[in-house]
Amino acid sequence: MSEDKAVTSDNKGVTSEGKGVDVPAQRSAGHGGPAGDTASREVLLKVTGLQKHFPIKKGLLQRNAGAVKAVDGIDFEVHSGETLGVVGESGCGKSTMGRLITRLLEPTAGQIEFDGKDITHLGVGGMRPMRRDMQMIFQDPYSSLNPRHTIGTIVGAPFKLQGVTPDGGVKKEVQRLLEVVGLNPEHYNRYPHEFSGGQRQRIGIARALALNPRLVVADEPVSALDVSIQAQVVNLLDDLQAELGLTYVIIAHDLSVVRHVSDRIAVMYLGKIVELADRESLYKAPMHPYTKALLSAVPIPDPKRRSAKSERILLKGDVPSPISPPSGCRFHTRCWKATEVCRTQEPPLVALKTGHQVACHHPENAPDQVPGETVTAAAREAIEIVDVSKPAADEPEPDGNGSDDNGSGDNGSGGTAADGAAASPDTPEDGPKE
Ligand SMILES: Nc1ncnc2c1ncn2[C@@H]1O[C@H](COP(=O)(O)OP(=O)(O)OP(=O)(O)O)[C@@H](O)[C@H]1O
Ligand code: SF4
Ligand SMILES: [Mg+2]
Repeated sequence: MSEDKAVTSDNKGVTSEGKGVDVPAQRSAGHGGPAGDTASREVLLKVTGLQKHFPIKKGLLQRNAGAVKAVDGIDFEVHSGETLGVVGESGCGKSTMGRLITRLLEPTAGQIEFDGKDITHLGVGGMRPMRRDMQMIFQDPYSSLNPRHTIGTIVGAPFKLQGVTPDGGVKKEVQRLLEVVGLNPEHYNRYPHEFSGGQRQRIGIARALALNPRLVVADEPVSALDVSIQAQVVNLLDDLQAELGLTYVIIAHDLSVVRHVSDRIAVMYLGKIVELADRESLYKAPMHPYTKALLSAVPIPDPKRRSAKSERILLKGDVPSPISPPSGCRFHTRCWKATEVCRTQEPPLVALKTGHQVACHHPENAPDQVPGETVTAAAREAIEIVDVSKPAADEPEPDGNGSDDNGSGDNGSGGTAADGAAASPDTPEDGPKE
């Protein structure tokens, strides 16, 4: 992650005891470390033409009646030590993309290379050694942390799955990992329901780190957490990246989270990447109208509108169905700039500036279109201002434990790889089979 990404520097790395995170050496930060010029780093993950079409079956005979084009031809690279943020509205294919690149789903087409090795169609056995290097933190900790297993069993599961015995034994290593993520190692024998959402995130992170991975794909790791807890978890991820040289793909549905954590950002719309750029360029001069709309959905920072700080600008209209996406540019049904060419010809994702790719026939980048300050008159027609000031209902405080999450009623979506029942790295849904 880049240096200025931390959400709040004052609580950076705070643990349950209020100390800095002490991260004993696992992997040397040599291959990664804090991101500088990420483009010049080695390519750890390369994705080409990746597709996932979920078939739709109908009737008694289970006839093929089309497909949900969840991911419909995407290309990107992730460099060692960087954080790639992936953003887009609900249903645009972010989670499917995450599950494809970690090979929990079998791709319909395309290619995935990890560290120069083609892993597109590797089976369970072929993927087993790779699992050590790539881990996923899932969207929902309630289904991904087995409620019948203790934290010790959950965090220690990867060792069992891989048949690995760490130095000093599994228990000692699990307790060390709990400490690394700011949890009390004494809570080894507790169950997931005894922890708050933020603490479950930490359990998930500990589990993801157990095998010393190189790539961590985090699917909405903080989206359901209270803002202060979001900052702590984001800062924990940040510290761990710096210490362990991790590479992240972090998925979120709005740009306010990824702006703090990402070096580069990919914007997805209906199964496609429509813009891919470094964070600076994307925020300063977004070129795709959809990115601009998403940016305008970030709370308005203008002090003159202080009283309206709980307002958000949202794009009108629903996302079209991924079963039959619109012709030409998929965004044309909601775009205020659409012309005839947009309706008939699909714009390719091309680099219009160094390191800044965009798929649009009429890209934006004029200085008068800086998000948060000026919204053009035409854009205003396509958006609406929504009052989101109503506070969310608090969950009851969870039973005591030793972290800094204050047990505040976050409902913690964004857990981790399952330790059993739910999707586990070694139990793909329709993924690699042998
Ligand atoms: N196993 C599946 N079978 C059929 N359709 C699926 C399956 N998984 C996902 N989809 C569909 O694929 C599309 C993309 O889903 P996905 O979960 O990847 O979106 P997302 O961007 O992660 O959304 P969200 O922000 O709500 O998590 C959706 O239309 C979804 O209904
Ligand atoms: S190609 Fe046309 S419809 Fe699509 S985003 Fe660009 S201007 Fe809008
Ligand atoms: Mg998702």
